[in-house]
Amino acid sequence: MAIQEKGKEIIVLDSTFASNVGSGELEDAARQGRQVLESGDGPGREFTGWLDLPTRVTDDDLGQLARASDEIRKCDLLVTVGIGGSYLGAKAVIEALSEPFAPGFEVLFAGHQLDADYHQGLLGYLEGKDFAVNVISKSGTTTEPGVAFRLLLDELVRRHDRDGLRRRVFVTTDEKKGKLRPLVDDLGLSSFVVPDDVGGRYSVLTPVGLLPIAAAGFDIEALLGGAKEMAASLRDPAADSLQRNPAMAYAAYRNAAYRSGRKIEVLASYTPRLSFISEWWKQLFGESEGKGKKGIFPASVNLTSDLHSMGQWLQDGERTVFETILDVERARGLTIPKAPLMDDGLGHLDSRDLHEVNRTVLQAAAQAHFDGDVPCLQIRTQEIQESTIGALLYFFEYSCGVSAYMLGVNPFDQPGVEAYKKNMKRLLG
Ligand code: PA5
Repeated sequence: MAIQEKGKEIIVLDSTFASNVGSGELEDAARQGRQVLESGDGPGREFTGWLDLPTRVTDDDLGQLARASDEIRKCDLLVTVGIGGSYLGAKAVIEALSEPFAPGFEVLFAGHQLDADYHQGLLGYLEGKDFAVNVISKSGTTTEPGVAFRLLLDELVRRHDRDGLRRRVFVTTDEKKGKLRPLVDDLGLSSFVVPDDVGGRYSVLTPVGLLPIAAAGFDIEALLGGAKEMAASLRDPAADSLQRNPAMAYAAYRNAAYRSGRKIEVLASYTPRLSFISEWWKQLFGESEGKGKKGIFPASVNLTSDLHSMGQWLQDGERTVFETILDVERARGLTIPKAPLMDDGLGHLDSRDLHEVNRTVLQAAAQAHFDGDVPCLQIRTQEIQESTIGALLYFFEYSCGVSAYMLGVNPFDQPGVEAYKKNMKRLLG
């Protein structure tokens, strides 16, 4: 099953090491899930604006984002303040696109937890550096970013006059309801809108994700372009079968796995750059499906590292798990040098390409896990770049919508999150 982008395949689902889910009943259920999503008739219908995001961002929007990111890049670094859906998308994309160890414009994150050491350390790190802040909160009332923003704003107010603040503070919030609006208006800050019809975990392709990603120096047009190609393929009325629609196939596969007692899905990545894509994916699926006492628990491993820690459990632990593997076809060429004097039994690796070795280990582990009764679905993409990451994000979002409707839950609410918030408010007075 593949999605074609201008003659190239951008996402391929490979079920070599996974059980087949081609039954007619499942296909009908996936078709029904997709139909509910597309018709906008399902629960949570008011939050399906993300479906159109790749085509909704205008040249004016891109111009405003480019101007703000140019302004931000005049500073030494950007601190992005947000949590959950107002944090994970930007972090995931920036990490995925950043060449390891390559110097780039620094984007730091705060407001995604309440740890005093972290924030104290951050303030110390910012001493002597000219920093900008992008505070991202749809509601403007979330505790963690509220605390971090207070700390950072306090520091900025100490250093700058109003004009200086205007050049360094960027606010992304709801157009009308966002509680940060009065501050924006009072100080005349640059602000961006989190659309009303897009929930946090589906908001990476709004300014929530796009501004920090652009500030980090990445091509957001290409990111949106990849998502646009993916949207066109998945939403094509003719792509209404498991064979032609990999998002439907992935949703159907998950549903079949869940029904057969696989309650945990482990997303396995063989490249550390994608580890935060896994974190973003966990929120997407966990918050969308984990309700009504139902839902697959989304977990992740970073391989090959975790083959030496979690590998035992995957191979031989309780059989309630299935694996979804992210396979990247191409990476930079790097040849393993010969080491004639080393007697470590690894001579067979001499002169081999490192990425090919990594992908061979992927196949070996998938085969072993499959033989140990863990189905391993592979999601293959060509290489890590803006367009493929944009396509992958949209692919997962669309699959998640279909999958949640197949499960019979609202993919776009999060009623369970409120319970801890009530307790927190009560205890903190
Ligand atoms: O997906 C969600 O809706 C949540 O994770 C929110 O993004 C998160 O709670 C942050 O909310 P806010 O943007 O209102 O600060």
